Amino acid sequence: MKKLIAANWKMYKVPHEARIEAEGLKTLLSSADLAEKEVVLFVPAINLISFAALCHGGAFSLPFTYGGQNFYPAEEGAFTGENSLNMISATGANWVLIGHSERRMYFHEDNAFLAQKLEFALNKGFSTVFCIGESLEEREANKLEEVLTNQLKEGLAKLPKDYEVEKLSIAYEPVWAIGTGKVANEADIEHAHSLVRKILAEIIQQKAEETRILYGGSVKPDNAASILKIKNVDGVLVGGASLDAESFNKIVIS
Ligand code: PGA
Repeated sequence: MKKLIAANWKMYKVPHEARIEAEGLKTLLSSADLAEKEVVLFVPAINLISFAALCHGGAFSLPFTYGGQNFYPAEEGAFTGENSLNMISATGANWVLIGHSERRMYFHEDNAFLAQKLEFALNKGFSTVFCIGESLEEREANKLEEVLTNQLKEGLAKLPKDYEVEKLSIAYEPVWAIGTGKVANEADIEHAHSLVRKILAEIIQQKAEETRILYGGSVKPDNAASILKIKNVDGVLVGGASLDAESFNKIVIS
């Protein structure tokens, strides 16, 4: 199983900046050994067009793939402000991020809606990273297992029966570690990831072993290597430190 190194650019970079970063990353990664790694960048929808231009129509000339941070689960229609998966796919992107805590928190996306999004994306053949994670309050109230169980059982409730296992990855991101510089310690990460694996086994049985579980929350060039060595950590989802090509490259090659 290749480690998945994913970038989440959030709402940063205008298209020409995106293009410069992508070109920089392309150059840096061209000398990297990516035999055991897969790299994907989740970027604002408008920047997907810059990426498409970079690829000159063929997504495979880049050493990474790219995807959308959001979409609305319908073919098309009267959904002002939203992007469809057909639009995302027209840029050469075949990945989407679902369930990020910022979408849950600021845009009120609940488990039922996220289940619908996940089903829609998998049925469309997209690769997905489905995010889960507890708040500080929930952790302090000893609700870690309960929160992860609910997010996974309800979020994965509509998985298509025959979905391809490599098209679903889970990102465990403790909300209190996102953008705060506070990284969960190694024991906490190991514990949470083994819980996720156990809960996944109850939902998708043997597919749980082949499902990548990423860690996210203040991953930086200086902690990525040790995080990636923790048991059941199959990749990382990187926010702030992915915005600079050199910093993200260091994480990819760590
Ligand atoms: P961070 O963000 O690396 O800036 O903490 C991670 C994320 O939100 O996915």
